[in-house]
This record gives sequence, structure tokens and C-alpha cells, in this order.
Amino acid sequence: MKRVLITGGAGFIGSHFTRLLVKEGIYTVVLDKLTYAGNLLNLKDLESYENFVFVKGDIADREKVEEIVKEYKIKAIVNFAAETHVDRSILNPEPFYETNIKGTIVLLEVAKKYGLRLLQVSTDEVYGPVLTGYADENYPLNPTSPYSSSKAAADLIALSYFKTFGVDVVITRSSNNFGPNQYPEKFIPVIILSLMEKQKIPVYGNGRQKRDWIYVRDNAIAIREVLFKGRSGEIYNIAGNKEIENIELVNKVIKIYENLTGEEWLSTLIAFVKDRPAHDIRYALSTDKIEKEIGFKPTYPFDIALSETVKWYLDNLDWINTIKTRDFEEYYRKNYGER
Ligand SMILES: NC(=O)c1ccc[n+]([C@@H]2O[C@H](COP(=O)([O-])OP(=O)(O)OC[C@H]3O[C@@H](n4cnc5c(N)ncnc54)[C@H](O)[C@@H]3O)[C@@H](O)[C@H]2O)c1
Repeated sequence: MKRVLITGGAGFIGSHFTRLLVKEGIYTVVLDKLTYAGNLLNLKDLESYENFVFVKGDIADREKVEEIVKEYKIKAIVNFAAETHVDRSILNPEPFYETNIKGTIVLLEVAKKYGLRLLQVSTDEVYGPVLTGYADENYPLNPTSPYSSSKAAADLIALSYFKTFGVDVVITRSSNNFGPNQYPEKFIPVIILSLMEKQKIPVYGNGRQKRDWIYVRDNAIAIREVLFKGRSGEIYNIAGNKEIENIELVNKVIKIYENLTGEEWLSTLIAFVKDRPAHDIRYALSTDKIEKEIGFKPTYPFDIALSETVKWYLDNLDWINTIKTRDFEEYYRKNYGER
């Protein structure tokens, strides 16, 4: 399994996962459509590695996926490629069903034809709101947004390919990730960028929604462990075991930011805004299975990882600017020709 195709590897979690594998000497091919969320700067430091290849393309393009599998003798696919932002899924659901469901079916068909392992990267959002206790892998699915319903559908289809055709499928469902390189539409980078620009920090409803947070480097390690040790046809929850209300998280990030910059009174920027429709009040995962079977536990202390994340955004204005001005189009053309 030393030759892996990573789809969506130019995005947030996929790029961290790619770095982990490339640096371990695994032959790694990234296939990414480079949507607004994909960014080649996320992979820039890997360009000089001989065991790293980037291909621009869509997971729904079966011919292209098959070509890659044959040319690079791929043994496993890890599917990060997705439309991922809940708010966008409410504004325009269709691309979510196209990529997250139809795209996954193409990968499953290719896995079936060539006898590959397919690790499907999924989310805790498929369980819907978990009011009390913790959702284990058998918890009923109750997705409430077009995003989470598209992910739940893909999970069920993937499991049906295991049951019907014996395709070597394994699924991870993680809680909210945070860390460097996260596209600045997601909650933590929104807070940090609002602080940097002295703009209002939008907080949905009363801010009492609870989420579990996992540092992206921990999730990358967990996914690698499941790729190599996970049992076929199984689902593994992944969480940081750090549950916190949104408003408490905002205050924490503000404190860290104030300590790093010496600025003061930034909590005045907090602005409560109209809640998102069907906004789930709490997600919470049981991680007994991955701990017992795979031996995975997150290692990065939450406060330190959060502080490193704030510092990363403060230190990477170029990355922020290219995202904003879409300068990486130019970067792409220079490196790879016309898109
Ligand atoms: N970010 C989180 O907190 C979180 C939590 C749980 C699960 N997940 C899952 O992890 C995966 C990665 O999430 P992320 O936050 O890194 O996403 P992201 O939005 O940062 O990146 C997604 C990547 O997929 C690529 N892509 C989109 N459509 C594609 C297509 N049709 N073909 C090829 N590439 C395509 C984009 O260009 C981008 O590089 C997703 O499947 C998501 O559902 C994310």
C-alpha cells in the first residue's frame, strides 16, 4: 500500500495528510480540481520531493482517475475531495451532491475495478445533533444540512460497495478540524482574520452551540493509522476530545490573539448574528473504537495547538493575500500552465 492517491489533497486536511505521507517516503499522487478551496500553496514545500505528484482534475472524471491509478500503480485512494462549507450548501446544494456523492461513486467504481482500498473521509455531522452522551459508530444517521446529507449518502453508498461487491472500504468520521491552511470561511480562521482586520466577529445565534475540535495534524495521523490498520467495511470516529461552546472558543482565540499582539479590548468585536437554519446544537463522538482497535489518541494539547494556529495566520500574510486576491491562479499558471 505504498502508492496512494489522495483526492482533495490541495485543501486543508488533505494537504496536511499529503505532507505526512510524502515525508514518510510513501509514493503520493494528489488529484485535486482546485476549486476555490484548493490551493497549491498548501503543497508548495512538497514540490521538490520525488515521491510527490500533483494532477489537476475532478474525482467525477472516471477516465482521469483510472489513468492515474494505472500510470502510478496506485494501491489505495484516500478521498478528501468534497464541497465542505455548510453555509454554501444552504445557498446552493447541487455541487455538494455532484462531488460528494457522484464523485465518491466514481472512486468506488475504480476501487472495485482495480481492487484498491478506499478510505472515505467523512464527518461527525452525519449523526446530526447529539443532545446528550456521545455518538458511537452505530449511532443513527440524522444529517440536517445539504452538506451533511451528501456526506451521509456517500458513507452509505461506500458501505454498500463493501457489502455487495467486497470493495475494501473504510470510513473515518472526524469532528471539527482546526490548524494552519484552513480556508478563511471556517469558524476559527474567520475569528482570526476578523481580529486581524478589526472587523466584527460573527457568532451564530447565542453562541452556545457545542463542538469537539481536533488539531488537523492529529486527524492526519489518525487517518494514516486507519488507512494502514483499519478493518475493511468499518467506520472509525476521530475526535480531539475537546468540547467547547462556540462563544467560549471565540473568547479563547481573542485572548491568545491579544497575548501574541499586545492589543486589547478586542472582545468588543463580537457580533451575534441570525442563526443558520437547522444549526445543530451539539456534536459529540465516542472514540473508544479507534483507541481500542487502532491505538490512536490525539496528542496535541488544545490550547497550544490553538495558539500555534493563530500564530500561523499572523505569520502567513502572503497565504492570506493569495487566497483573497486569487493570486494563486498566477502561481498555478507559472508552475503548471493554463488551467
Ligand atoms: N474541515 C473539517 O473540520 C472537517 C471535519 C470532518 C470531516 N471533514 C471532511 O474532510 C474532507 C476535507 O475537508 P477540508 O476541510 O480539508 O476541505 P477543503 O474545502 O479545505 O478542501 C477540499 C478540497 O477538495 C478539492 N475538491 C473539491 N471538489 C473536487 C472534485 N470534484 N474533484 C477533485 N477535487 C475536489 C478542493 O479543490 C479542495 O482542495 C472533506 O471530505 C470533509 O467533508 C472536514
